[in-house]
Amino acid sequence: MPRLSDEFISEIKYRNDLGELAGSYMQLKRRGRNLVGLCPFHGEKTPSFNIYTENGSFYCFGCGTGGDIITFVMKIENLDYMEAVKFLAERAGMTMPEDDYDDSMSKLRTRIYEANREAARFFYSKLVSKEGAEGLRYLRNRGLADSTIRRFGLGFAPDERFSLGNHLRSRGFTEAEMIAANLVFKSRSGNSVLDRFYNRVMFPIIDVRGNVIAFGGRIMSDQKPKYLNTSDTLVFNKSYNLFSLNNAKNSKSDSLILCEGYMDVISLNQAGFTNAVATLGTALTADQASLMKRYCKEVILCYDADEAGQKATARAINILRGVGLPVRVISIPDGKDPDEFIRRHGDKGHAAFQNVLDNSGNDMDYRLQKLKLRFDMNASQGKLDYLNEGVKLLCELDNPMERELYASRLSDETGVSRDSILEQVRIGVKRKEKGRRKQQFSQMQRRLSGRDDSVNPQRADHPRVTNAEENLITYLVRNPDKLTYIHERVSPDDFSTIFNRKLYAYFSDKILNNLDPMTTVSADFSSKESSRIFYIVNARENFANTPQALDEYIGIILKEKAKPSESEIKNSSSDEFADFFSRMKNDHQ
Ligand code: CTP
Ligand code: MN
Repeated sequence: MPRLSDEFISEIKYRNDLGELAGSYMQLKRRGRNLVGLCPFHGEKTPSFNIYTENGSFYCFGCGTGGDIITFVMKIENLDYMEAVKFLAERAGMTMPEDDYDDSMSKLRTRIYEANREAARFFYSKLVSKEGAEGLRYLRNRGLADSTIRRFGLGFAPDERFSLGNHLRSRGFTEAEMIAANLVFKSRSGNSVLDRFYNRVMFPIIDVRGNVIAFGGRIMSDQKPKYLNTSDTLVFNKSYNLFSLNNAKNSKSDSLILCEGYMDVISLNQAGFTNAVATLGTALTADQASLMKRYCKEVILCYDADEAGQKATARAINILRGVGLPVRVISIPDGKDPDEFIRRHGDKGHAAFQNVLDNSGNDMDYRLQKLKLRFDMNASQGKLDYLNEGVKLLCELDNPMERELYASRLSDETGVSRDSILEQVRIGVKRKEKGRRKQQFSQMQRRLSGRDDSVNPQRADHPRVTNAEENLITYLVRNPDKLTYIHERVSPDDFSTIFNRKLYAYFSDKILNNLDPMTTVSADFSSKESSRIFYIVNARENFANTPQALDEYIGIILKEKAKPSESEIKNSSSDEFADFFSRMKNDHQ
């Protein structure tokens, strides 16, 4: 496969600084030679994400994700390898070499973006033409100004099955591209392609870089489904994106308002709250929470007033807290959702919603308030039950001042002294902490035993030699000048685990060709494998990098190799067995 040269990738890495780039997405602190921060790839409260500035790599000890600056961009911008390289090339003002590399996947992605953009233009032109009169009437009836319709690029899909498909074909898009964009699908007979969306008002979904990545289409009657959305494609995953984040990221507010629906977000925008976003027909995911965290300091939950909305609120609070985002909760006083609320208040929509915002409490206020409703506060048992459950909630607070504040509140509500409530909280926190440590410990043990090791499944059978192999590989990468010394003693065949054998051959080849061994790891291995490689080579702090240690690593590898494998033992004759045992004895003398 033709590919980008090592030189080009080296240049990309030389011209882009990982610490500086990562610093634009997250808070980093210096610790010795490294930078540390809260991992952007999983939720955590104490930092386990490390950047090794001397070699431009990172590793998170919490989730085990590691790599170089290209991996970082792939993960944080949700791009494939080639797109991440392009992103970094552009950032550094470099031009990509001519198309002599295989990027059919990223070419298809580009075509999907283009098809979506063209489709959005098409739907908009239909909305403002005679054909779309019903759609335009529908949106205006729902209180949307023409300027709002333009701002969101809303549109109309005509009541025909070949309309968008024919249009895109006339603009040079192939059927394969339209199908990959999920704009059309093959008819049952297979002879034609049909439009996915027809007779619906259309809501384009646009990512933070301004690409049209998908559509939601609403039917204008009571028929089902009410909304039809683009299925996941090469450029769209509904659990990674949020509706209108492209607008919200430019708002001046430090917070994001999270709603349930497209129309909620659009109405809020029209009323002046441009920091509103919505999930895309699914419950909130941790990925979406991490995405929001990049653009705000706090999330204001504004789900529907019905029971489903309240359940979703409780769930969302946990997810947002999990990634370390403070939460406030809005209860819509009249109307089922923010859209209805704002419409009901007409011209005064902005002031009315602002008032609700100003009166919103944080997630603990909200949860205690909900909790209290469940108990009969006039009975002692009710109060006690309320206290017990309330103390459990308080145990989730990290900040002692917050704990005191809410303990005072519980005390006022129940007549039990603040000190005894705080004492209960302390006991609960201790118990939780103990449970957490236990869990961490067993996780660590599992990792060390290699029982869950999907990258190197042979670790479990050869724990000691697997470590020695990893040490040898690390030594080689960090001391490429020792290649000959090592090669004279160890060949790839001497390795007991297949994955490490492959690594040994790979790095040897790079070094023999005078290339930096780590430069293209992120291109040549899967994301899990390269995380592991970056861990082995760069992230281990207790690695012994001395010639004496090297000889030890080699010794362990060769000794293991000399042992016959289990299947050899089963198949060997008794003579051979005797021979083997005498060899073993010699070994131990
Ligand atoms: N949704 C969906 N598919 C459906 C129904 C809903 O994807 N069949 C998603 C849409 O993103 C919608 C959101 O869930 O915006 C909220 O749904 P719902 O509360 O039912 O609708 P509203 O937003 O109130 O829609 P409308 O005001 O247009 O009736
Ligand atoms: Mn609604």
